[in-house]
Amino acid sequence: MAYDFDTIVDRRNTNCGRWDTMDKKYGNRRLIHLGVADMDFRAPQPIIDGFRECLDHGIFGYTDVSEAFYGSFISWMERKHAVNINKKEILFCPRINISARLCVETFTKPGEGIIIQTPAYAPLYDAIVKNGRKVIESRLAAENGKYRMDLEQLEKAVTPDTKMFLLCSPHNPVGRVWTKRELEQVGEFCLKHRLVLYADEIHGDITAQGADFVSTLSLREEIRQLLVMAFSPTKTFNIPGVILSYLVIPDDGMRKRMENTIDRTGMHNPTVFAVKAAEKAYTECDGWYREMLAYINGNDAYTRSFFAAYMPKFHIYPREGTYLLWMDCSGLGCTEEELETWFLEKAQVSVYMGSVFGEAGRGYIRVNIASPRKLLEQAYRRMADAYGELVSGM
Ligand SMILES: Cc1ncc(COP(=O)(O)O)c(C=O)c1O
Repeated sequence: MAYDFDTIVDRRNTNCGRWDTMDKKYGNRRLIHLGVADMDFRAPQPIIDGFRECLDHGIFGYTDVSEAFYGSFISWMERKHAVNINKKEILFCPRINISARLCVETFTKPGEGIIIQTPAYAPLYDAIVKNGRKVIESRLAAENGKYRMDLEQLEKAVTPDTKMFLLCSPHNPVGRVWTKRELEQVGEFCLKHRLVLYADEIHGDITAQGADFVSTLSLREEIRQLLVMAFSPTKTFNIPGVILSYLVIPDDGMRKRMENTIDRTGMHNPTVFAVKAAEKAYTECDGWYREMLAYINGNDAYTRSFFAAYMPKFHIYPREGTYLLWMDCSGLGCTEEELETWFLEKAQVSVYMGSVFGEAGRGYIRVNIASPRKLLEQAYRRMADAYGELVSGM
């Protein structure tokens, strides 16, 4: 490999959300944290060099989006995902967790319903609940070892005051990469019920071997006109601390409304680093990106073989996308609280417990595998050493 994903970089004492915040949360600095969804890998060198150029210039004034900022994203989407985006359709928004909230605020009124497929990434719930909207839950159905959408159930749950569908594609936490057919069904459903379709595709670049990501933007024109798309290079190139995302809104009227919200809330300027990062990421980091995907695939295979050999009662779902593994823990015969205690006190590893993703996630865990393999090995060995206590009852 030309790029180094094996070196363990100490992230403690850097105000790191994944390591320092979790150490504080659990009051234990010995834990290995496999929870928060960023990677323990250094960012690609061209991005680091780009930041250095900014640093050497020494002036960190107000910054605007550049032609290259738009152009590099447009060409990446064309090259990687075969979708054509017109520059005028793009809006800068600092974070997807901000844009989801702003979108809810712009296109729905308090009390109106918003559909979310559960288990779901918690900030998507928050975007609904903390803005006083109503959650219309659509549970994903686990069938034959794989999740599928349940649109028949949703037909029954949808109400006349439901106004929006929040889609996560690929899906965090269950790791599905939705097929074109599934996306078309969601699109037709939204058309039928006149719903705005907000599609969060932050994980769209991260697919497992053999899985083909299809962007919701590639659906037919009538559906495109309902879309608010959220993209970002921050997961793909491991730069979420840079704070950077793109919205793509094909319909002129909807885009204008969103532009007004962004203006009203003062979310319009990127940081000096965000512009540089986006330009570099989308144009100079293809090699790093390809090897990162291969390394994650290797970690996935390693995890499955380790668990099959030493901890077979964790059932790992297939991963089509993201760098997160979704594991069914029901075979262990313990409650979520007991399982969490075992992780934190016996195994000394932290993961996300499934109920973080709503009740539909209870009984599952999410494990982030975007770390040097040696670090995963350390974490899994700790778990395997304590496994006996878990399966024999605590
Ligand atoms: C589905 C999904 N959307 C959004 C985000 C966060 O995006 P941002 O950092 O731009 O707010 C994450 C991070 O884990 C995510 O998994």
